[in-house]
Amino acid sequence: MAHPTYDCFIQGEWIPANGKQTLEMRDPATGALLAHIARGQAADINDAVQAATRALSPWASRPPVERARILHAISARISRERDALARIESLDTGKPLKQAFADATAAARFFEYYAGIADKVLGASIPMGSDYMDFTVREPLGVTAQIVPWNYPLQISARGLAPALACGNTVVLKPAELACLSVLELTRICHEEGLPPGVLNVVPGYGYEAGAALASHPGVNLLVFTGSVATGIGVMQAAATNIVPVLLELGGKSPNIILSDACLDEALPAIIRAAFPNSGQTCSAGSRVLVQHNIHRQVVDQLASLNARLQVGPGLKDGDLGALISKDQQVKVQRYIDTGRDEGAEVIIGGQALAGTDMSQGHFVMPALLDHVTSSMRVHQEEIFGPVLSIVPFDELEEAATLANSTEYGLVTGIWGNDLRSTHWLAQQVKTGQVFINTYGAGGGVELPFGGYKKSGFGREKGMDALLSYTQVKNICIHVQAPRH
Ligand code: NAI
Ligand code: MG
Repeated sequence: MAHPTYDCFIQGEWIPANGKQTLEMRDPATGALLAHIARGQAADINDAVQAATRALSPWASRPPVERARILHAISARISRERDALARIESLDTGKPLKQAFADATAAARFFEYYAGIADKVLGASIPMGSDYMDFTVREPLGVTAQIVPWNYPLQISARGLAPALACGNTVVLKPAELACLSVLELTRICHEEGLPPGVLNVVPGYGYEAGAALASHPGVNLLVFTGSVATGIGVMQAAATNIVPVLLELGGKSPNIILSDACLDEALPAIIRAAFPNSGQTCSAGSRVLVQHNIHRQVVDQLASLNARLQVGPGLKDGDLGALISKDQQVKVQRYIDTGRDEGAEVIIGGQALAGTDMSQGHFVMPALLDHVTSSMRVHQEEIFGPVLSIVPFDELEEAATLANSTEYGLVTGIWGNDLRSTHWLAQQVKTGQVFINTYGAGGGVELPFGGYKKSGFGREKGMDALLSYTQVKNICIHVQAPRH
């Protein structure tokens, strides 16, 4: 079977990387070759930034409704191609097909949502007395650099692209070397639906080559990064050299807090879904359960029986969990489980590879539950980025709040309970960018501002708040006077 080769996309054209090298893209479930991508490097990034710079003024000065119409067309096209996009995403990332469908749906929704507000990016008029007229305008930042991870290539690209484009910015996007085929298909769609040449440029390649070159390029006006804390620090240091704002989304260790009066029949299936989307390789995964002591036993038993029913297999078989992205990730996750055991946690179920089948080539880890986890353990502190859910019992509400806040991260908290005062008190206490009460995720939440406290990062994506991230305010003050004759 012939495998496609995806080049760099610069100034409206597909062109091989200057270095003429390519990288192999493989199916994490089978190891099968899927495609080749260009190995972009500093010279390609430079070409892309120049193209984005040239395209900026014409794009930013268009009537916003024209930008909105193009974004609407992109949204509609993503919806029409949803089956094919989901299949590519599933093969490339390893995730179950239905999760990839949900990603494609969210991608279409991001373009629809920001198309709807492209012509409503309003300023304010500020009263200064009769001597002045004063108003603000929200201008685009300019060339935005977007560095996208491999866990949700399609959704995260759409999340950053749609508001950036709606506000009149141009983009150079560097997708992840481990999975990015859906992003390259989205690039094709944007082009075919009328996005002008140079407005979106995409350079695939390694993080340490294309990514580092983009983060440090002096022609960039905003850096948008989703990924690990370590790489985020490097991106922020590069941004500091050029005095460029950064939007960092760096993952989490998000808890689901179960109070003794929670409806467990609703809570526990939702908590399992929150823990293991994309095999737990999700920044907002609910990777910790904090449970009140008197229901601890019952919760562990019920979670274990729900967990035992989860289907693990290749993405296209469309079970509950697929393969992890790479051998490295599989090894890292299994090491964490061993560490947890060494630290005194009890592995209730899961954690083994998928043995003895035709899937032994795939990077599978069976979803694991770790009980009797305490806040000092590494499995409680660190983002594992795999299918591992730790369970920590607590007595009083104050203790739940302390435990929830006891990691360096602060992305999401789920709270399950029926007492209004307790759930709202906890919502106030937790240091996370999002709080869900008796739900988790709200079906994707394109409309809901999303971002971190603490080392989960800063700046907000999604919702109206993203407009603050993708624009800058200009204040215009006019001295007024009646003409003297
Ligand atoms: P990473 O943070 O290194 O990679 C994310 C993106 O940054 C990729 O596009 C990569 O090519 C790029 N990148 C890598 N090095 C760069 C550099 N020096 N300059 C600019 N861009 C660079 O994450 P990685 O290595 O793929 O995964 C390691 C761990 O990071 C995971 O196990 C997980 O814990 C965490 N992670 C968190 C994500 C999240 O959604 N919060 C997403 C991906 C990884
Ligand atoms: Mg890395």
